[in-house]
Amino acid sequence: MEKYAVVICGGGSTYTPDMLELLCFAQKDFPLRKVVIYDSNEERQRKIGEYGKILFRDYYEDVEFSYTSDKEEAFRDIDFAFVQIRAGGINLRSSDEKIPYRYNCIGQETCGAGGLSYGIRSVPEMIQLITDIRAFSPDSWIINYSNPAAIVAEATKRVFPNDRKIINICDMPTQIMDSYLPLVNKKRSDVEPRYAGLNHYGWFTGLIDKKTGVDVLPEILDICVNETDTVKKQLNEMYIGDKHWGSTFQEHLNMILDYPYSLPNTYCLYYLYPDTCYSHYNEDFTRSDEVISGRGSNVEKYCDSIIKLGKMKETEFDLGIHINNNGNDVSNVTSSTIAYNDVHAPYLIELAISIINNSHDICLVMVENNGIVPNLDHGMMLEIACRIGKYGVEPLHVGEVLTFEKGLLENQYASEKLLVDAIFEENYQKLLQAFTINRIVVDTDRAKNMIDDFIKVNGDYWPNFK
Ligand code: G6P
Ligand code: MN
Repeated sequence: MEKYAVVICGGGSTYTPDMLELLCFAQKDFPLRKVVIYDSNEERQRKIGEYGKILFRDYYEDVEFSYTSDKEEAFRDIDFAFVQIRAGGINLRSSDEKIPYRYNCIGQETCGAGGLSYGIRSVPEMIQLITDIRAFSPDSWIINYSNPAAIVAEATKRVFPNDRKIINICDMPTQIMDSYLPLVNKKRSDVEPRYAGLNHYGWFTGLIDKKTGVDVLPEILDICVNETDTVKKQLNEMYIGDKHWGSTFQEHLNMILDYPYSLPNTYCLYYLYPDTCYSHYNEDFTRSDEVISGRGSNVEKYCDSIIKLGKMKETEFDLGIHINNNGNDVSNVTSSTIAYNDVHAPYLIELAISIINNSHDICLVMVENNGIVPNLDHGMMLEIACRIGKYGVEPLHVGEVLTFEKGLLENQYASEKLLVDAIFEENYQKLLQAFTINRIVVDTDRAKNMIDDFIKVNGDYWPNFK
């Protein structure tokens, strides 16, 4: 049996423990020989690394596990690189969220001005990282889910145009499927999605039952429209204990009621309801503050406790118990049956499993348009249903999008394309255009003011735009 070597880049991320545990659960279907976690900041991942040693010793003995800040150690002899870096860290995420508020505009991790600011930091770091991985493991699969993924995908497409093994992917569509499929008693593994758009700006156009070939999306939309209160309640229960995503999904349902012919990505809210989104945000305590005090501190406590105990098996952190408490049994994980709600990473493992088995399962990933949607720019990096196998990503044809979606997408793509031009050319004019054309920014003077503020806080993370 072939066994694989994985590196997780951005080892210090709060998502890493989930990811590592999922690798342990998926050992039957995604057998591993080596797992390395890599972070450019040694200190940031030390705790997670120490916890990881215990985890793998207790649950996946024959895997060689290590953590490092050394590129060669991290990237040599690797089959899969899972990349989840956050250029500038959570502190600059906070600035991305807060600066736009000074100008009465939404500040968000990946949408609008905040997303553009983050893109400027992320693109050069991603290009460097891919170059480094390629230097040591030229044939590895690089699965990127670092944000803002749409902008990163546009940039990596230009720099590595012939590299079939770089795949940009996002978990949000899987979370949306997991949220609405229960309305028709289905799980994600029961359906094949049809979806089109840019990352964080797309729509499901079908959810096709694998057994019957029937599209269940119309039925889901009907239920949303005709039994709204029941759906509200169900979503509420699903996201109990997660205020942010709970209220996001309530708003998401409202959005479906306004446009009841497709199932939008939750991130469409920022573009279609900027006033409502703006009214929800507390400038002094934005999402990054919630993440630091919530997930950030929980993960730290979790790792601390396990390190102190020196073991997980037969403790309160025993994975069996931990998982059963969440109502999930993944001891029989098999390809495309990982419908594992509490964990961030199943979509990545599903992708990897489809690759190694060459099983051509459908996953939503980002790929260059090239006629998939003939009435959109051919260079656009669409997030789309693709068959995934050893050869790589093979997109399914979509056909034309409607005028409303076409207008929104082309506007956003112009902003993203101008931004990537601006980064590569260090061109201030294009930077200003990228901000101004963005649907959430709109005004030239506001764009100039925000850019001035962003330049101050981003320091060397931003090039010197001329
Ligand atoms: C979803 C998106 C990610 C994004 C994350 C933010 O998972 O797909 O791209 O980074 O949400 O979540 P957070 O809990 O950090 O605000
Ligand atoms: Mn995402």
